[in-house]
Amino acid sequence: MKRVAILISGGGSNMLALLRDMGQGGYAEPVLVASNDTAAGGLQKAADLGVLTAAVDHRPFGKDREAFEAALAAKIDAARPDILCLAGFMRILTPGFVRRYEGRMLNIHPSLLPKYPGLHTHARALAAGDTHAGCTVHEVTAELDAGPVLGQGSVPIQPGDTEASLALRVLSLEHQLYPAVLRRFVAGDRTLVRLP
Ligand code: GRF
Repeated sequence: MKRVAILISGGGSNMLALLRDMGQGGYAEPVLVASNDTAAGGLQKAADLGVLTAAVDHRPFGKDREAFEAALAAKIDAARPDILCLAGFMRILTPGFVRRYEGRMLNIHPSLLPKYPGLHTHARALAAGDTHAGCTVHEVTAELDAGPVLGQGSVPIQPGDTEASLALRVLSLEHQLYPAVLRRFVAGDRTLVRLP
């Protein structure tokens, strides 16, 4: 069975959606939840579900991204994952780290890529007067938020939407999209998932 490691930086709602789906579908085994923040709320949630966790605080490494990533990769590799899922992981990864896992590392981004790579995606969609927003699961490559798209979910932007109301609507779609993409990815199926 494919072994999946999940990287988080915060509450880990996407991580929970992935753990729940793997538990129900039995198509993959979560072998680690790791974070760059020892206080990430998702770590306790994962531990409560019996999943091994690890954390490497990136701050003591300062600007030495490679040293931080080497420490993190050591914890990841110890769990022997086949696939890495970035889920609310908020550190930019160097090309060296990406190369270690390229072709088996996924990320979820809260926009309809290629629109709005980077941060504040919902504010940018609102400011642009877009009619829709959404989320994208893509393979991670050295270029930020730019790898091959494996799935997208779209929601209408409604009058009166704020960044918060839109983020909430997109997040619940993320929780459907990421597991749907992981199921296919584990099966070696790269056909695009589109929601709804
Ligand atoms: C979500 O908007 C996700 O798209 C982005 O990080 C945010 C928080 O995710 N990657 P989570 O609740 O920690 O999974």
